[in-house]
Amino acid sequence: MPHTLTVDGKKYPLNSQQTLLENLESQAIKAEFHCRDGHCGACRCTLVSGQVNYITYPMAYLRENEILLCCSQSKSDISITR
Ligand code: FES
Repeated sequence: MPHTLTVDGKKYPLNSQQTLLENLESQAIKAEFHCRDGHCGACRCTLVSGQVNYITYPMAYLRENEILLCCSQSKSDISITR
């Protein structure tokens, strides 16, 4: 069963082969980004629930409940707030 991406309370289908940033872009959800490589932190957001897998090690500073959208893929249903 496909996973679900919840952004600020709204639900979207989630493609686990794409990064979370690519998922937001494919749903035409506005997302902040700059480097797309885990360095700048512009794509940082709060992970409400779910688990992600980093395809590139996140270099930007993250608090415990924060993730980088540009370099992570979903391992489960994901809920984020921005
Ligand atoms: S866009 Fe720079 S860390 Fe994600």
